[in-house]
Amino acid sequence: MNSRPPPYYENYAYQPENFGPPRHFGGYNVYLPSSSPHYLPSVPPHYPPSVPHYVPRVSTHQSTPVPTIVQPTPSSSKTCMPKTRKALILILSIVIILVGAAIAGVLIWYFETDSCSGSKIHCGTTGICVTPAQWCNGMIDCPNGEDENRCVRLYGPDFILEVYSSENKGWYSICHDDWNDGYGKTACTDMGYNKNTYLNSKGIAPISGNVSFMRLNTSAGSTDFYKTLYKSLWCPSGSVVSVRCIDCGLSNKRASARNRIVGGNAAFPGDWPWQVSLHTHGVHLCGGSIITPEWIVTAAHCVEGVYSDSHQWSVYAGILSQLAMSSSRGYRVAKIISHPNYDPSTKNNDVALMKLQSSLFFDELIRPVCLPNPGMMFQPEQKCWITGWGAKHQGGNTSVELNAASVPLIDSSTCNGIFFYNGLILPTMICAGYLEGKVDSCQGDSGGPLVTLKDSLWWLVGDTSWGSGCAGPFKPGVYGNMTRFTDWIYRNMQVTQS
Ligand code: ARG
Repeated sequence: MNSRPPPYYENYAYQPENFGPPRHFGGYNVYLPSSSPHYLPSVPPHYPPSVPHYVPRVSTHQSTPVPTIVQPTPSSSKTCMPKTRKALILILSIVIILVGAAIAGVLIWYFETDSCSGSKIHCGTTGICVTPAQWCNGMIDCPNGEDENRCVRLYGPDFILEVYSSENKGWYSICHDDWNDGYGKTACTDMGYNKNTYLNSKGIAPISGNVSFMRLNTSAGSTDFYKTLYKSLWCPSGSVVSVRCIDCGLSNKRASARNRIVGGNAAFPGDWPWQVSLHTHGVHLCGGSIITPEWIVTAAHCVEGVYSDSHQWSVYAGILSQLAMSSSRGYRVAKIISHPNYDPSTKNNDVALMKLQSSLFFDELIRPVCLPNPGMMFQPEQKCWITGWGAKHQGGNTSVELNAASVPLIDSSTCNGIFFYNGLILPTMICAGYLEGKVDSCQGDSGGPLVTLKDSLWWLVGDTSWGSGCAGPFKPGVYGNMTRFTDWIYRNMQVTQS
């Protein structure tokens, strides 16, 4: 038996939104440039608040409905109505009722059988829909179990492909025997990637302690590899499948000491190829990270309220200088998906996705960062990097050039200490910085990456979220904890696949 915990996919997504505190959009700090660079329009961008703030919940009460005055119908009109008119009205009412019923019937049929409304997922061809949260959650919700049939994930830093078996209630790696790229592409598309970013599959040594595997039965005659899988205590080849769905995490950056953000240095071309600048009305407002040719990860607070309309955004990739952005067009945004459980007052679940209207072309300067896989361990003080066009000191202007700085992670129990953030750090957050401050992200860096280099690849550890001021002692930067969001990210990439 596999002793791993049951379905890994805890779901933080697609839960009813009405249990969070009320949304409020009035509390932004207005960012006032001390000297307006010429690329900034006269309207100053509104940066979100730097510290979560709590809004007292005032219980509202229903006001007593005002009685409406009912005009009595003059009884004389009744007696005056001719019989034919009465009959006409009766027929007309019947016709209206019948037409209404027919329309309702068609609508019910349409929603029940043909399409899954909103972001629901089809259960095969049964016409039944389930919510994304029900997909791969270890419980069968579709009549034929389609929701638990093709649940795959990449595990650990070596991208070991694992399949969830609802029968055996566990995740299993797959023997490399008889595996091919076609199966690899299928697994990647089931995860939410596009077929054409697929890189390779290879056989690697299994994780020590693994005692059972899934094997392919090539004589089963099915083209769907999931259907041919059976449990086995060993792999003849001695190796399991490792799959790379996208060539992520590569950078030109050489490990060096050159070490603005606050306390950082100007970045070199190709050092942080996943970093994008998000503009609204011609102004840089937030950062973001490329994860696929069409998906950008940013912070939910960047796309809150009036900023939630995708048409106002332009995404700039592969450009280091804000000045150079004003002369190019940027990528248009097709869709913005904010985490449904994002809480503006606590900054819980501060993550959002942007889907581009057209795909990015990857080269030396534009590349995706790797999303952390489940089972990846980061050290408590793991060395990470933050990048962005944010202010170089608290209250400063947006920077013209992209800046980068190195910051270690800070353990959440330390960061929640009374001298630090005293309980404001939730499990969806992660702190990075120094006790003495001095190096930090700042206003304008939000949504941008917190990355780390592990096994020669760069991984997205977090997205810049908030902090009390910038670079002050005991007030490190707070980032969205990406490992808590990857499940939600993949689910959305699956549902919104084109
Ligand atoms: N909320 C800020 C923004 O919108 C990011 C603040 C980060 N603060 C910090 N001290 N690290 O750009």
